[in-house]
Amino acid sequence: MCRIFAAVISSGDVASTLKIGLKRLEYGGYDSSGMATIADNSLIIKKGVGKLDEVDSVVHFDQMKGRIGIAHNRWATHGYPTTINAHPQVDCGSRVAVVHNGIIENYMELKEELIDQGHTFKSRTDTEVIAHLIERSLNAGDDFVTAAIKSSKELQGSFAIAALYNGEPNKIIAIKQESPLLLGIGDGMNFAASDASAFIDKTDLIIPLEDGDLAVIDNLGYKILRIDSGKGVNRDFVKLSMKVEDISKGIYSHYMLKEIMEQPLSLRYTLELQSVYLDVITELMDRSRTVYLVGSGTSYNSCLAGSYIYSKIGAFPTIPALASEFGEQYGRALDVDSSLILVSQSGETADVLKVASLARMRASTVLGITNVVGSTLTRITRAYIIQQAGPEIGVAATKTYTSQLLTHLKLALNIGRKRGKLSQSEMDDYTTAFELLPELTEKILKGVYNSTKELAENLSGTNHIFFMGRGMNTATAYEGRLKLLEISYMIATAYSAGESKHGPIALIDKGVPVIFVVPSDETRKTMISNIMEIKARGGKIVVIGQDDDKELMEISDKFIPLPSMPDIITPIGYILPLQLFAYHMALVKGLDPDKPRNLAKSVTVQ
Ligand code: AGP
Ligand code: GLU
Repeated sequence: MCRIFAAVISSGDVASTLKIGLKRLEYGGYDSSGMATIADNSLIIKKGVGKLDEVDSVVHFDQMKGRIGIAHNRWATHGYPTTINAHPQVDCGSRVAVVHNGIIENYMELKEELIDQGHTFKSRTDTEVIAHLIERSLNAGDDFVTAAIKSSKELQGSFAIAALYNGEPNKIIAIKQESPLLLGIGDGMNFAASDASAFIDKTDLIIPLEDGDLAVIDNLGYKILRIDSGKGVNRDFVKLSMKVEDISKGIYSHYMLKEIMEQPLSLRYTLELQSVYLDVITELMDRSRTVYLVGSGTSYNSCLAGSYIYSKIGAFPTIPALASEFGEQYGRALDVDSSLILVSQSGETADVLKVASLARMRASTVLGITNVVGSTLTRITRAYIIQQAGPEIGVAATKTYTSQLLTHLKLALNIGRKRGKLSQSEMDDYTTAFELLPELTEKILKGVYNSTKELAENLSGTNHIFFMGRGMNTATAYEGRLKLLEISYMIATAYSAGESKHGPIALIDKGVPVIFVVPSDETRKTMISNIMEIKARGGKIVVIGQDDDKELMEISDKFIPLPSMPDIITPIGYILPLQLFAYHMALVKGLDPDKPRNLAKSVTVQ
């Protein structure tokens, strides 16, 4: 969704700092972008439609004067991506500028009321009401802070807002309600942003704001007030370990490729997860009658694989669930004996956070797995694990998927141990299997880079691609499909291979490609029968299988060989060629895999 960034520095112009930060936040939205600064007590606003570089080549953000400013990348919810709808949005007198991430649910009522009172609206956004509300209060004689507090009280919905007012030109006001927002505290410069990557080259000291907080920021300091009471409040600092190198593309042409190739390293970091965090979660899972694994998109796919993993390793049942469906599906079944592991790379996905609120209301135990230190998920869970995969910028999740899988594997081993379900030698075997991952994934990535590229070239002309797997690798098929469709826009279908006879096989005709995920485990034999059924109907058989599997090689039209590996880690090994396949397919089709259309890295609206 939209990303916001605000900065104030002691001297010089802030525009280049804002532009650099905005570029790093571009993964969040790229319909349009814009900036506002204040110079000589006047607001300067530049904005336009398209990705940041495209807008910049027309408006030249760097030429904006002023040492204080706000900036925005938009992912439109209300109003087409047009220049008028781009943020910043302003009031009638162009004295107040506002950038916003989220949705103002009652904007229609507010807009009508403001129009009746003589305000003129220019855009179709929900955001514009915020600027007019502040203006109304200023006109009534309030100062900027009072006007912002009064306006916030009128807003319903989710919002992270940064605002400027030329009558008090040294202040930024930043407001948080449900959408992510944190402060960055530097030396003679301060920031507010949706995500710390915006200012990580300037400071690693952040303050995550809480819902209902309003921060007033200038170059020398900040204060945080509660919107409901207007009283000051102290919030804790968090020191980040993120570095600028972690969020640059390095030698790679795209973040997605960098993040795919980085998996040997990110898995090494996840292997090093401190046992104290795992132990707390294990303890709380162990006490529960029912454990739900909840996520969206790729994180849900890791939950699906996780449900097999907890059962296989720990003889421990879990229920995987889609966050967006959770309330309807299981809401009333939650109680004090339930626990939920909420899995979210960003820790900001609105559907996931909504499940957390519901679960807390029903006295269930809320646990989390996330990749982002200081994210909302870390603040609302009873205990959480940071995956340690490092920042992920590409919209398609890759390294965070495999690191979530490894986190599930480690938790499953812990719970199996705690419940006495595993012998010492089984525990040793699992530990050895996990430790193989950094080296094994490196070997696989090198081995399949070219063959997946050829496969993409070969299949780029087809209309529909199928993915099939069984057991744990049903999730691999689902995830392979999600990767392909989100960045190449190809129609793709994924099924557990056993389901194919129950319907999907009707779609198979001569030449329809089906990619089978076939590790040499107990699913292999039945998978071969499923392959033969598709082959008999003329389907094009693509198989990802173990390199010495002659039978698979013979029956497939295209075989992608992988080295032998312990069964339990196949969901990690076998997703790698599918990530690369999707990446190559996007390139073959001339698309930018880092910024697929209509998507945003973290979905902060429901
Ligand atoms: C993954 O490639 C997608 N872009 C998307 O499905 C993503 O996994 C989903 O939105 C969940 O995000 P989260 O892990 O940050 O909660
Ligand atoms: N609702 C605002 C708009 O459409 C912000 C959207 C968002 O945060 O995704 O401009």
